[in-house]
Amino acid sequence: MKGPVFAANWKMHLGPTEARAFVAAFLARYTPREDRTVVLCPPAISMSAVRDALGDRRDILLGAQNVYSEPKGAFTGETSVAMAADAGARVVLVGHSERRHVFGETDEATARKCALASAQGLVPILCVGETLEQREAGETEQVSLRQLRAGLASLSREQVLSCAIAYEPVWAIGTGRTATPADAAAVHTVIRRELLALAGPGAAGISILYGGSVNRENAAALVAALEVGGLLVGGASLDPESWNAIAST
Ligand code: PGA
Repeated sequence: MKGPVFAANWKMHLGPTEARAFVAAFLARYTPREDRTVVLCPPAISMSAVRDALGDRRDILLGAQNVYSEPKGAFTGETSVAMAADAGARVVLVGHSERRHVFGETDEATARKCALASAQGLVPILCVGETLEQREAGETEQVSLRQLRAGLASLSREQVLSCAIAYEPVWAIGTGRTATPADAAAVHTVIRRELLALAGPGAAGISILYGGSVNRENAAALVAALEVGGLLVGGASLDPESWNAIAST
C-alpha cells in the first residue's frame, strides 16, 4: 500500500443502503490522489454494496473489519478470508481492540487470522495497543510488542513485509482522548524497530498507522509525526465530509 494509508473503520454502522449513499457522497468530494492509499472497512454485510458503489475507482480499497480464524466450516455467523476476498476485500483488520476486549479474541487467534489473510493475498492490518491501566502501569511498549510479535508469529519474512500495523491505544478509541503526536511517534518507533528485527531492512517500508479519536482537526499533526504512516479512523469516518477532509489531509 502506498503511504500514508487512510483507513475508515465503520464498525457496526452503515448497512448496505446507507453505505451506498456514503460512497456516492464521498466520491463526489474526494479527488483521487497518487500519493496515498484510502481504505473503506464497512460491516461484512455492506461489503458488496460498497464494492459496487466504488465501481472502477481502483484508488480506493475495500477492507474487511474482521475474518474468522478458520478457513471454512460450521462457524455460524462468521466470514472466512476467502469470502472477504471474493466480496472484493484487499485488506483486513486483525486484532482490533474491540475484537480483543469485547469478543475475547486471543493473540493466537490474531496470528491465525494474519496467516490466513496473508495466504489469501490480503493485507492484514494488525492492530495493537495498550489499555489505560496498562499505560498507567508503564506497560505500553511491552503490551504493543507482545501483540505485534504474537500476531505475526506464523508469517514468513516476506509475509510480514506485506502487512500493515495499526497502533491504537485502547484508551483513545472512541473516547475523544487522542495520543499526542509525540506519544504516538514514540510507540511507532518501538514498533518499527521490532519490525526491522523481525523482517530485515525491507520492514522500513511497512505502514504503521495510528488510530484512536482521530478527527479532521488532529489528523494532519498526527500524520506528520515521525513514523506515523497513516490513520485508522472510526467515528470521524462515518460522515463523508469529515472523512474526505481526513483522507485528503
Ligand atoms: P475512533 O475509532 O476513531 O472512533 O476512536 C478508531 C478505531 O477503533 O479504529
